Amino acid sequence: MAPILLNVGNESTDYLEHGLVHVKNPHLDFMEEDILYHFNLGTKTHNLPAMFGDIKHGMGVPSISIMMHELIKLLHHARCRDVTLIRIGTSGGVGLEPGTVVITDTAVDSFFQPQFEQVVLGKVIVRSTQLDENLAQELLQCGKEIPNLPTVLGNTMCTHDFYEGQGRLDGALCSFSTEDKLEYLRKAHEAGVRNIEMESTVFAAMCRVCGLKAAVICVTLLDRFKGDQISTPHELLLEYQQRPQYLVSHFIKKHLGLHN
Ligand code: URA
Repeated sequence: MAPILLNVGNESTDYLEHGLVHVKNPHLDFMEEDILYHFNLGTKTHNLPAMFGDIKHGMGVPSISIMMHELIKLLHHARCRDVTLIRIGTSGGVGLEPGTVVITDTAVDSFFQPQFEQVVLGKVIVRSTQLDENLAQELLQCGKEIPNLPTVLGNTMCTHDFYEGQGRLDGALCSFSTEDKLEYLRKAHEAGVRNIEMESTVFAAMCRVCGLKAAVICVTLLDRFKGDQISTPHELLLEYQQRPQYLVSHFIKKHLGLHN
């Protein structure tokens, strides 16, 4: 039997008929295209209804923290000495040209605090996220030595979500205005934040507790003051993503005395 639809007010009830997923964000209706960056899909470039399937993700604090537990135990069991760990990756820039490489001075949480809160047995343990200052300076120097590799030192904000948590207007949920978003980004900028990603605080905290020298280097894919969607052409994104790798390989070569 066909369902009976009662259309009360302006809210569409089409989703009831088709069993569709209902997104709660009015901004989405005005977007010409929606790029689902992490899936490498877009509503214009892909036939999403035809392609939809189960997708597994590995990103953010829970993923890296599990990996860090096992990596640190591996380093311990292997009796490695004088280890330096460097997280490289991508991020959203705060007032920077896309493609800028940010070497993290301090990893901060969503309140701009240099700490990571871990819940253990129902209690919150607060750990410092301070990184190695000398290492950051050395990496900054490496960045300056590579032509066409814009590199800056700045604080990195780590969030637990890519969309609302980073003040994006293009998620499935959005409970704030464009002005609210910009005000938050301005506050972040005033607090020294130059980029936003999703792993740095737990990485920094775990390295610090275990006495490992650590650094975080992330390239910015966009300037969050100017937008939310990652619409940079694929080739350019690939080039950006290689920038932290170039910097680290330069650093390693310098340490091995392979540079002239
Ligand atoms: N990674 C993030 O966490 N945020 C961005 O904006 C881009 C990459």
